Amino acid sequence: MTDKKKIVVLAGATGALGSDIAQALLEKPNVQLRLLVRPESVGKLATLKQRGAEIVEFDLQQEGNDQQLVDGLNGAFSLISALNGGKEIIVDTQAKMLNAARAAHVRRFIPSDFSYNIFGLDEGDNPNSDDRRAFAKVADAGRGDVEVVHILNGAFLDKRIVFGFLGAFDLQQHEALLWGDGDAVTDVTTYRDTGRYAAEVAVDDAQVPAVFEVAGEVLTFNQLVKAYEEASGKSLTIVNKGSYADLDREIEARLKAEPGNFYAWLPLMYYRGSFGGKGKLHAIANDRYPSVKPETVQDYVRREKL
Ligand SMILES: NC(=O)c1ccc[n+]([C@@H]2O[C@H](COP(=O)([O-])OP(=O)(O)OC[C@H]3O[C@@H](n4cnc5c(N)ncnc54)[C@H](OP(=O)(O)O)[C@@H]3O)[C@@H](O)[C@H]2O)c1
Repeated sequence: MTDKKKIVVLAGATGALGSDIAQALLEKPNVQLRLLVRPESVGKLATLKQRGAEIVEFDLQQEGNDQQLVDGLNGAFSLISALNGGKEIIVDTQAKMLNAARAAHVRRFIPSDFSYNIFGLDEGDNPNSDDRRAFAKVADAGRGDVEVVHILNGAFLDKRIVFGFLGAFDLQQHEALLWGDGDAVTDVTTYRDTGRYAAEVAVDDAQVPAVFEVAGEVLTFNQLVKAYEEASGKSLTIVNKGSYADLDREIEARLKAEPGNFYAWLPLMYYRGSFGGKGKLHAIANDRYPSVKPETVQDYVRREKL
């Protein structure tokens, strides 16, 4: 007896989040995973190929290959984008993917949002969020039969983001860097758990809300510091950097001084959205997929021995 497997197509499997989504999908016995990858990156997918993923070499940014993309989606239940990049990727390439999904009668498209609440931010607060809202508008304007599901998960709890990129912690110096009062509530989820939730959304037979929110833990900056201290057994000094108004001024000054150097100002924009309350999620729905038991901050700090 052969059960028909659900085909899930994923673009971005060579990336940090995409590889976790791919692992989560490969753990599902009833899924056939198909990976779209640009030719120069095929070699990065050797392990996933060995584990049974089908690899389709495809240059999403090349012009004139739309029909080939539709063919590549043949029989797919869901299409997931875990791509990263600027407007040309998030708006233009994802619009091309969505159009192809519509033509191929794919049930669901999951764009590469995986963020705090991009819909709570104002234009200019964060150019990455602006791009994601711009894609959401394009998707709404051309509404077809494909369900577009924006997955929001707060900040990635991992070393790369909450304990790295955001500039909220300097663990070498045993410091937590505080802008504002540290009492606004925020949401954090690991890459791995976000990958698991994305896999669940991708195979869900029922309709999924257009904005689907999950969180490993909901807590304030001050609680985050305490959770780290309890789990690691190490204490942190809180360094007061200034008020939220000071942070806004700092972002503006850095943008003006180095508009082309996003490392100078983008982390602070994410810090502002995460710990200033504007990016707070409002309809967290972890319980839709109880098989995913997301890690808390303490779980993660212990696992990574931070
Ligand atoms: N919530 C948070 O805290 C947080 C933090 C970080 C990221 N994110 C979001 O998570 C999502 C994934 O980010 P990530 O950190 O996993 O990104 P990443 O590690 O940089 O991976 C990016 C992926 O996009 C692919 N890609 C980029 N340009 C491409 C192109 N022109 N054609 C085909 N593929 C292309 C890369 O493929 P190649 O290997 O071919 O380059 C790679 O697979 C993004 O939406 C990002 O904004 C959220």
